Amino acid sequence: MIRYEEIKKKLLDFPKTWLVTGAAGFIGSNLLETLLHLNQKVVGLDNFATGHQHNLDEVKGLVSSEQWSNFRFIKGDIRNSSDCEKALLFDGKEVDYVLHQAALGSVPRSIADPILTNSANITGFLNMLTASKEARVSSFTYAASSSTYGDHPALPKEEENIGNPLSPYAVTKYVNELYAGVFAKTYNFKTIGLRYFNVFGKRQDPNGAYAAVIPKWTSSMINNEELFINGDGETSRDFCFIENTVQMNILAATASDDCKDEVYNVAVGDRTTLNELFDTIKKTLLSNDIAVETKPTYHDFRVGDVRHSQADITKAKNALGYVPEFVISQGIDKAMPWYLTFFK
Ligand SMILES: NC(=O)c1ccc[n+]([C@@H]2O[C@H](COP(=O)([O-])OP(=O)(O)OC[C@H]3O[C@@H](n4cnc5c(N)ncnc54)[C@H](O)[C@@H]3O)[C@@H](O)[C@H]2O)c1
Repeated sequence: MIRYEEIKKKLLDFPKTWLVTGAAGFIGSNLLETLLHLNQKVVGLDNFATGHQHNLDEVKGLVSSEQWSNFRFIKGDIRNSSDCEKALLFDGKEVDYVLHQAALGSVPRSIADPILTNSANITGFLNMLTASKEARVSSFTYAASSSTYGDHPALPKEEENIGNPLSPYAVTKYVNELYAGVFAKTYNFKTIGLRYFNVFGKRQDPNGAYAAVIPKWTSSMINNEELFINGDGETSRDFCFIENTVQMNILAATASDDCKDEVYNVAVGDRTTLNELFDTIKKTLLSNDIAVETKPTYHDFRVGDVRHSQADITKAKNALGYVPEFVISQGIDKAMPWYLTFFK
């Protein structure tokens, strides 16, 4: 944690201004909370496509009123260039750093509606990238995705070895990397891509057809509802607790120019099967006096899903000083009080 601790101290001593796009979403609202706790000035941009006002309200309740007064929210859409330009200003002055999270997540959503996913994830991305370059921000850190590894069979996943995308969503996230790379080379603009591997934690939405597996299952297990596993349960993922992801965003945004035009895996470097995940959540609920009666039902494999995913995080460790603080069981433990408060 050495570099992260040093940077947080430096930010506290010399506060900066940040734009967090997708601030009303899961990852964005967690970034917002940490930055406000560090006394940073933050602009949030969101159109509430999948984010919620209640996520912002929750952050408001977790920071001091002085810290909350350092936040400006703009309800706007990254598909609209002028919303992007507006969001890059904090009280009339360009922000220092951009953490671009706004996008439409979910592989199945992109298969159901590739045009909608494309408009937010590619047109919106290019708008935000262009406006940030014009505003001369110090760095543009963006949410890339492990889906970019596509059908490449190697495990663990190393940044330079990618395969063919398996979904429209994966195409959009790969195109983000291509645009960011071209902007870095053509305009000497500092872009850094973070390939997130299945992030989880508080404020991740358990509802809807496109919900992520951990909040969805935890909610079903707490409420004794049906729970489905796609495939045989031996599909595996490198589940990454939100606080590791927040750390990487802060390390990347403030990194030296050598880190420009790079992408980094953001994960733990472990692999957990869906069957193991079910057992881990069940055990954690038991230790919170909740006996789980729900038994999983196995369905067909889901189209577009990668079978196994595990990151090599050496590059992030060496270049950025990243040290993941939480493995999956510790993350689930830490998130459980929030799940128990909001999912019951
Ligand atoms: N959660 C994960 O495991 C994971 C994994 C890989 C990549 N990612 C990426 O991380 C980012 C954040 O994901 P998340 O899990 O927090 O999802 P989320 O849905 O909770 O957050 C995304 C936010 O972006 C906003 N948004 C969407 N379209 C917008 C638009 N056109 N204009 C303005 N705002 C818009 C949504 O309203 C939402 O608040 C996304 O780019 C996603 O693709 C997430």
